[in-house]
Amino acid sequence: MPDGLVIRPARAEDEEAIDSVIRAAFAGTEFGHQGEADLVRMIEADGDVMVSLVAERDGAIAGHVLFSRMDVEADGAAIPGAGLAPVSVAPALQRQGIGDALIHAGLDALRRQDVAIGFVLGHENYYPRFGYSPELAARFASPFAGPHFMAMMLDSGATWPQGGRADYAPAFGRMG
Ligand SMILES: CC(C)(COP(=O)(O)OP(=O)(O)OC[C@H]1O[C@@H](n2cnc3c(N)ncnc32)[C@H](O)[C@@H]1OP(=O)(O)O)[C@@H](O)C(=O)NCCC(=O)NCCS
Repeated sequence: MPDGLVIRPARAEDEEAIDSVIRAAFAGTEFGHQGEADLVRMIEADGDVMVSLVAERDGAIAGHVLFSRMDVEADGAAIPGAGLAPVSVAPALQRQGIGDALIHAGLDALRRQDVAIGFVLGHENYYPRFGYSPELAARFASPFAGPHFMAMMLDSGATWPQGGRADYAPAFGRMG
């Protein structure tokens, strides 16, 4: 954990600071900056947040990560799943391990909620370090299937399902 960093659950009064971090982090990325901030609001409004954490340093919000409920079917049975999106770190504070600390803490929180599987759509050279695998995700039918679609069993000893279907929370379908 980087020096002086505190990871804690997001609170209602953090909303504006989280919004600013998301906008700043995504400005200039291929994802655009407005969509991700709106996505967080929509997921919250729908009640689909599973884990929302902030990284705080010197009393200021340095980063944020959100995991939302997914509708996942594996080998014919529903299993609890969570999608990681978005994750953002203030541009001046990137590459110091803050994203790493947020994602690890988020995955631990999901394990405590007995979530079985996590999915992410993102950089193929970033997420595998947490255990996310494109090979596992490829077993699941999804509108987001492709090289950036990755999945991990939250219990690293769990057997991989043979196949299934994975749908993100409805807010993702309403993204601009
Ligand atoms: C992605 C992000 C959350 C990572 O947070 P961070 O605190 O900088 O990450 P960490 O310090 O834990 O890890 C650094 C690693 O992230 C990777 N990384 C960071 N930004 C990256 C980017 N834009 N593309 C690919 N890899 C990236 C690098 O591999 C880096 O490792 P390195 O320093 O050894 O090269 C942050 O860079 C960010 O907010 N980016 C803009 C928003 C975004 O793209 N979010 C993810 C959408 S999928």
